[in-house]
Amino acid sequence: MLITFEGIDGSGKSTQAKKLYQYLESLGYKTSLYRDPGSTPLAEKIRELILSFETDPTTELLLFETARSSLMWERVLPDLKEGKIVILDRFIDSTTAYQGYGREINLGTVSILNHIAIRGRKPDLTFLINIPLELALERVGGGRTRFERGEYLRKVRDAYLLVASQEKDRIVVIDGARDEEEVFSQVIDCLRERLGLNL
Ligand code: ADP
Ligand code: TYD
Repeated sequence: MLITFEGIDGSGKSTQAKKLYQYLESLGYKTSLYRDPGSTPLAEKIRELILSFETDPTTELLLFETARSSLMWERVLPDLKEGKIVILDRFIDSTTAYQGYGREINLGTVSILNHIAIRGRKPDLTFLINIPLELALERVGGGRTRFERGEYLRKVRDAYLLVASQEKDRIVVIDGARDEEEVFSQVIDCLRERLGLNL
């Protein structure tokens, strides 16, 4: 089973992904937690490159997809084959939202590259942690006052909600503005309902 967490920076994805990993492990489920981009030696190097160079949108897109391909091939697919529950902190919807809608790369191109990188294996369930932009900026330190940065993230946030409305069977929108435990209980309720996990 493949479960992904999505949302703008500071929405609380990593916090919830970690909580879910610990909870499932404590119940005896064999579980893995990975971050995208990252979690293989190659993908971690690409992550460093992405974070240290500002490139044109297409180069950025290809770097994200290369890192994802490595993560998929070396970690996610083997783990799924072993019957593990795999949790990912970001995945394909990040690229649709940030590079597709955010950087205005053709959505068909993004979709094809996503498909290639993940070998067609889409998540079974995706949690979109949704919070107001102002709260996200506050949580990540409030230092990012550049108008464009805020405007970019606003575009990304709207894009995530649009994608969620188009893929209701896969993507569940969670209210991330509440405290950590309240957000987590929405996640657990949804896993019970949608995937029939005995939690
Ligand atoms: P993301 O992975 O989406 O960037 P994080 O999980 O790293 O977000 O959270 C960003 C910051 O907000 C961290 O300092 C974290 O402790 C805090 N945080 C996470 N969830 C909540 C919450 N529900 N309420 C308040 N603060 C939170
Ligand atoms: P990450 O450190 O996971 O984000 P966060 O700040 O939420 O913990 O990801 C680094 C940045 O990469 C983040 O700003 C979102 C961006 N990103 C994309 O633009 N496209 C993608 O496909 C992915 C996976 C991330």
